Amino acid sequence: MKLRKIRSDMKLRGKRVLVRIDANVPLEKGRAVDGPHGRIAKAAVGIDWLVQRGAKVIVMAHLGRPKGKKVSAYSLKPVAKRLGSLIKHKIQVTKSVVGKDVLVAVERMKEGDVLMLENVRFDGREKMNDQAFAHELAQLADVYVNDAFGSSHRPHATLDAITKELPSYAGPLLANEVSILSKLDRQAKHPFVLVMGGLKMETKLPVIEHLSSMVDTVLFGGALSTAFFIAQGHEVGKSVFDEEAVKQAKRLLKVVGDCIELPVDVLVSRSLRKDARCRVASIDGIKPYERIVDIGPETVKRYAEFIAQAKTVVWNGPLGYCEVPAFCSGTRGVARVIADRTGKAMTIVGGGDTGPVVEQMRLADKYTLLSTGGGALLKFLAGDPLPGVVALQSD
Ligand code: 3PG
Repeated sequence: MKLRKIRSDMKLRGKRVLVRIDANVPLEKGRAVDGPHGRIAKAAVGIDWLVQRGAKVIVMAHLGRPKGKKVSAYSLKPVAKRLGSLIKHKIQVTKSVVGKDVLVAVERMKEGDVLMLENVRFDGREKMNDQAFAHELAQLADVYVNDAFGSSHRPHATLDAITKELPSYAGPLLANEVSILSKLDRQAKHPFVLVMGGLKMETKLPVIEHLSSMVDTVLFGGALSTAFFIAQGHEVGKSVFDEEAVKQAKRLLKVVGDCIELPVDVLVSRSLRKDARCRVASIDGIKPYERIVDIGPETVKRYAEFIAQAKTVVWNGPLGYCEVPAFCSGTRGVARVIADRTGKAMTIVGGGDTGPVVEQMRLADKYTLLSTGGGALLKFLAGDPLPGVVALQSD
């Protein structure tokens, strides 16, 4: 996929550059939770690049789902603080998303300044992909850059409609993610191992279906594997599952059963409390009052053997209930094995809940790609076009 990219030979000094980033990170006590390889940290690189070239950088982002209303809990001020500390620049956040105060603030900007528009989702027209809204935003700038891979699956005004108003380019973060992910369809080497965890079968199913003709093995964990256990007639005690997922698991076992690998042992516990006791159980040894909280040590070993042979590994979603550290050892084990394989294999890791685990383990830079995408990554892997990316495709 060829994208129009922002390039170092473009004259950007004094130009007003409108940059869309994905800064949708959790907040804790009014602070943006974003590690050294987090979404804001990664977007900061592209913004700093523009600052160094003397552009006037106007940043756009969303936080949460404020439904077209100004909600102070979703203000971008904590994001601006985090971004500002990374690029060592004071970043002012405008009161409104568009309007007079924004125009005045942009007019005052000097070369190398950074201004952040308030949460673009405070304006209901963002989600409607409204052209008039995009037009108003475009009045602020000379050039548009999309560096928000994680948001690009949304057909929203700051990702799609805006590209009809301004010369539009992919930023470095988006271009890099698309370039690596595009290789999967064109040149994935075999064995190709897909590791699927997490909760929601409905979001993972399209990925498995799209990649099923390419992958050699799918290793399952998390609540997804519980659905398969039920589909095979095992008792899973109090483990969480939904009926629809079980139906889909039955279907997948019929259609692509040959490449599906399920845990051979699991960690079970009576509760999800942080101090809860747990034990390793065989798949047929789960008591009615227990629930599956992680994959077991034998499974980690077995999965490690598949990964150690792989030339391509894609991993999405934790394999256990990582909110409790004691229930995260399977996920951590697999994270480590995949990291060790990087260099010998293309390793792609993603998903909102997977990033924090590998970051905490200091493995975040040990993969070919740690994607900033959650939903966007799943859509891309499922072969769905991302509107924000399609809009930047060169003819
Ligand atoms: C994400 O967090 O995956 C993106 O920022 C998109 O957010 P959304 O699901 O609220 O559109």
